[in-house]
Amino acid sequence: MGQSFWEHLHLALALLLLNLGSVVTEDVPHSCYGAPGLPGLPGMPGKDGRDGLKGAKGEPGIPAPPATRGPKGVKGDPGSPGLPGKNGPKGPPGPAGDPGVMGMPGEPGMPGIYKQKHQSAFSVTRQTGENPLRNVPVVFNHVITNTNHDYNTTTGKFTCKLPGLYYFVFHTSLTSNLCVMLYKDGSKMASFCDHKTNSVQTSSGGILLHLDAGNQVWLEVNDYNGMVGIGISDSIFSGFLLFPD
Ligand SMILES: *[C@@H]1O[C@H](CO)[C@@H](O)[C@H](O)[C@H]1NC(C)=O
Repeated sequence: MGQSFWEHLHLALALLLLNLGSVVTEDVPHSCYGAPGLPGLPGMPGKDGRDGLKGAKGEPGIPAPPATRGPKGVKGDPGSPGLPGKNGPKGPPGPAGDPGVMGMPGEPGMPGIYKQKHQSAFSVTRQTGENPLRNVPVVFNHVITNTNHDYNTTTGKFTCKLPGLYYFVFHTSLTSNLCVMLYKDGSKMASFCDHKTNSVQTSSGGILLHLDAGNQVWLEVNDYNGMVGIGISDSIFSGFLLFPD
């Protein structure tokens, strides 16, 4: 067998295919066309395709091992000292110290003026034949003694300047009934009354009174006001500081 055999076989197959085709397409006349060619050779490979879509997110990775602590550092230098703090609360007072040594005696002082300072004394008389007014201070208008003018010959009142214990006394001449009252600041301290039985007679009284500075003392008469001071019959009112405070 040679090449002619394959050529005959090839031809026979082609004829068979044409007969088969005439069965499928009867309207196409087949008698006037040649035999179809052989299938061509395979084509060249195509170009690469486009990039695909982005893939899904992957699974989480394996956790990393924890970081290990570094080696301990060298100890630093001490810092500078801070500012001083505030004062604390005051402590309780300490115990009293021992008494000191006694000092040297001082120089003698100047002479005192005790006597001049603590003087108060008066004696005043009432030189008139007229009887004194009733229920008001009897005015003794003539001064015998009156230190510092403690007795006022205008008002008839003694005003205390030096507090202390005072003695007051009066001696009066009377030509009719007489009552003498001694007052201290408006309060009656003592009362002395005498009914006249002779043409001229005397009456007297005295009292010790403690006075503060500013206290006033005086004498009064009431309806019995027969006090006079005439010639040899005086009426005199006296007082003095006995003990100063
Ligand atoms: C006596 O009292 C009167 C009336 O208060 C006064 O004016 C006079 O200055 C007083 N006299 C003395 C010496 O204090």
